[in-house]
Amino acid sequence: MLSAVQPSNRLTIGNYIGAVMNWAKMQADYDCLFFAVDLHVITDTRGSKELRRQTYQAIATYIACGLDPDLCTLFVQSHVKQHAELAWILTCHATMGEVSRMTQFKDKSQKHGESIPMGLFAYPVLMAADILLYQTDYVPVGIDQKQHVELTRDLAVRMNNAYTPKPEAPLFKIPEPMIPPLGAKIMSLQDPLKKMSKSDPDLLATLFLDDSDKDIEKKLKRAVTDSGSEILDADDKPGVRNLLTLQSVLTNRPIAEIVAGYAGKQYGHLKVDTAGICMDAIRPIREKTERLMGDLSYLDTILQKGAEKASERAAVTLARVADKMGFIPRS
Ligand code: TYM
Repeated sequence: MLSAVQPSNRLTIGNYIGAVMNWAKMQADYDCLFFAVDLHVITDTRGSKELRRQTYQAIATYIACGLDPDLCTLFVQSHVKQHAELAWILTCHATMGEVSRMTQFKDKSQKHGESIPMGLFAYPVLMAADILLYQTDYVPVGIDQKQHVELTRDLAVRMNNAYTPKPEAPLFKIPEPMIPPLGAKIMSLQDPLKKMSKSDPDLLATLFLDDSDKDIEKKLKRAVTDSGSEILDADDKPGVRNLLTLQSVLTNRPIAEIVAGYAGKQYGHLKVDTAGICMDAIRPIREKTERLMGDLSYLDTILQKGAEKASERAAVTLARVADKMGFIPRS
């Protein structure tokens, strides 16, 4: 099992609920690799002074969310050179047409006008390399990443057909996305029709995993609901549904039970309760992340071990790909 987050900003409660929380639950049952995709960050924002700190912070947050470096392999993408190498090889097998159809590219490229970075276009191909390098079976992600995993599957099948026709063992395993049944798309607190995102310029829209209790209270107090007053889980109440979803995933209670408890109550009650639940979930993560960020040498030790383990595995896949494609092995 393999998954990753872009350390392009602080992690959000969407990243937690759609991804990291589920990784932590599964780490004891699967052979897991989790990493911070720093090479993906530069596709949109180029290098920056903040990148290093944000990358450490992402790894610290993973551990604070319950990932145990003794149970899973934790590393940083740029430490394992094979990611960029396989990405180039896959770039030469992907088509402009199929990559142009990626909805995330369409969204993200808009702000760049005429000067869209090539890396932003190639982003999903690098993600395919991340996944295929490790012969991954499962990729636990939120719903927004499903299309990228589907592209990964297409590229794997294409490479297998081209270089390892049956009865040879295929070059790559075909990965499956694993999408949580609830919480696969936590919505913006300011526009509940839009996904909650790390990069939303409206800071009230996003709950970050290092927000203070006061921030959380403020953001939930101002969360956009609707002009009604009844607390229901309904299509025409996306803001209310979002708060109910946050409560349900974080407390492990079914939505229907939560709704029943609000009979005769107002949106204000729902907001205050949701704030309390989010504070209780975020507080220990924030405090542990802060402690870990005070000891970067500890994080370096974990990352070094993780990079060694991941590199060893990545090298096996890449050597076979190179061999099948006809590159001369280095003696
Ligand atoms: P990223 O950094 O945008 O998001 C990381 C994970 O969090 C999930 N997620 C959400 N889930 C629910 N509600 C939300 N509002 C929300 N926002 C984000 C995402 O679905 C994702 O699972 N391209 C990936 C990173 C990546 C990757 C990979 C993932 C690179 N290589 C290989 C898996 C495997 C991304 O930008 O995720």
